[in-house]
Amino acid sequence: MTGNRREFLGHSTTAAAFAAGVFAANATNTLAAESDPIHVAIIGPGGMGSNHVGQLVTNKAVRLATVCEVDEQRAAKTADTITKATGVVPKVVKDMRHVLDDPTIKAVWIATPDHWHAPAAILAANAGKHVYVEKPCSHNLREGRLMIEAARKNNVVMQVGTQSRSTAHIIKAMDKLKSGVVGEILVAKAWNSQRRGTIGKQKPSTPPPHLDYELWLGPVTPVPYQSNFLPGIWRWWHHFGCGDMGNDGVHDIDIARWGLGVETHPSRVAALGGKSYFDDDQQFPDTQTVIFEYPGATKSGKPKQLIYEQRIWSPYFQEGFENGDAYYGTEGMMILGKTGRYQLYGPRNKLIEESTGPGPDLAAHHANFLDCIRTGARPNADIEINYLSTALCHFGNIATRVGRVLNVDPQSEQIHDDPAAEKLLGREYRDHWAAPKRHA
Ligand SMILES: NC(=O)c1ccc[n+]([C@@H]2O[C@H](COP(=O)([O-])OP(=O)(O)OC[C@H]3O[C@@H](n4cnc5c(N)ncnc54)[C@H](O)[C@@H]3O)[C@@H](O)[C@H]2O)c1
Repeated sequence: MTGNRREFLGHSTTAAAFAAGVFAANATNTLAAESDPIHVAIIGPGGMGSNHVGQLVTNKAVRLATVCEVDEQRAAKTADTITKATGVVPKVVKDMRHVLDDPTIKAVWIATPDHWHAPAAILAANAGKHVYVEKPCSHNLREGRLMIEAARKNNVVMQVGTQSRSTAHIIKAMDKLKSGVVGEILVAKAWNSQRRGTIGKQKPSTPPPHLDYELWLGPVTPVPYQSNFLPGIWRWWHHFGCGDMGNDGVHDIDIARWGLGVETHPSRVAALGGKSYFDDDQQFPDTQTVIFEYPGATKSGKPKQLIYEQRIWSPYFQEGFENGDAYYGTEGMMILGKTGRYQLYGPRNKLIEESTGPGPDLAAHHANFLDCIRTGARPNADIEINYLSTALCHFGNIATRVGRVLNVDPQSEQIHDDPAAEKLLGREYRDHWAAPKRHA
């Protein structure tokens, strides 16, 4: 391991262990009695990361041995949660290279902001760790392809955090659609209509003392800190996030693509959007409509469409669901909410079936990941599956940003005759140990 790394410890017990040169190892490990729990690390236990921690501390198949967090307060809180729940004091590190260098860690949960997903996942895969990485899998398209390469080259499992892929109710709905109950699905629609808050307008300021902003930035070109980057607000900035299309939208887009049955990139992407409601620093649209066209995708070789609608100022649901999907088939349609309900309609809107089930199942998604580590199988939200869905967010955001229809070559993954749009498929990095690189 190289580089100038300062450890920090925000937890007194861990601090004592660190001072003694021993990061964790509590002899009264309550999980030790279980058969071979896998030692894992959480990287970025913020909002969603805390949900993972809450789940992992109850899972006897794992031992949450290391907390990696660049925010001292969050690290301390997480270490405390783990200690209280399991009786084991976790190792606490700030620089993820400590996790990568630790041979006892077999898998990592990455719940950092989007700009760190690919860098961390690629480094972890190259270090031989199995990877559970949050959605959207990458900050830009090119990074996603590098993640697939890293997973395959190192033969590790790479599961992306679209937990709907492991949710029984959604799987049941997808099986229904596949059985042909609505005929052939020609169009699917995903929507994201909910009420978000404003992020305000801020000027650069000094980062809080408990945050290592330099590590938080990672390999991206440095920009001055602003208080409306945190907590979690980075997602509305081009430099760090993918807007709400890559945030909540990607869940529904993924479910729409699954039900539509398309397993390639679209060939054309048309989009319009902007800020119709908010007047703040947010750089992504609050109002956005994107249409993706998949030529030759129907049985008779005609195009299919996937539509995405976003109105993140809506204090009401659309079609009964805040976020959801509709599948328009030649014999009927299905309206599906990711919160666990669907309705099936036949010709003349005859209600054929209504079904309710539990909402997104994080535990099942974790279990699927761990099963795949044991069996070597591909997980439900394998990186290659999520790559195609996350790509729709990238294409949609690019088309909205440049204001032109994108003509995509699904094979070469390039955008024809539009260098400005093509450039947005990747990004520039500074000279940094975590900057993603293509394998030799
Ligand atoms: N699957 C889901 O349903 C779901 C729900 C919410 C969020 N998410 C995803 O989870 C991710 C995190 O979102 P959030 O809202 O929790 O953001 P957040 O900002 O609250 O949390 C991110 C955490 O990562 C830490 N971090 C940043 N860089 C780090 C680094 N280099 N090493 C270690 N820690 C680092 C931050 O300090 C912060 O605590 C996002 O990608 C988001 O899309 C998924």
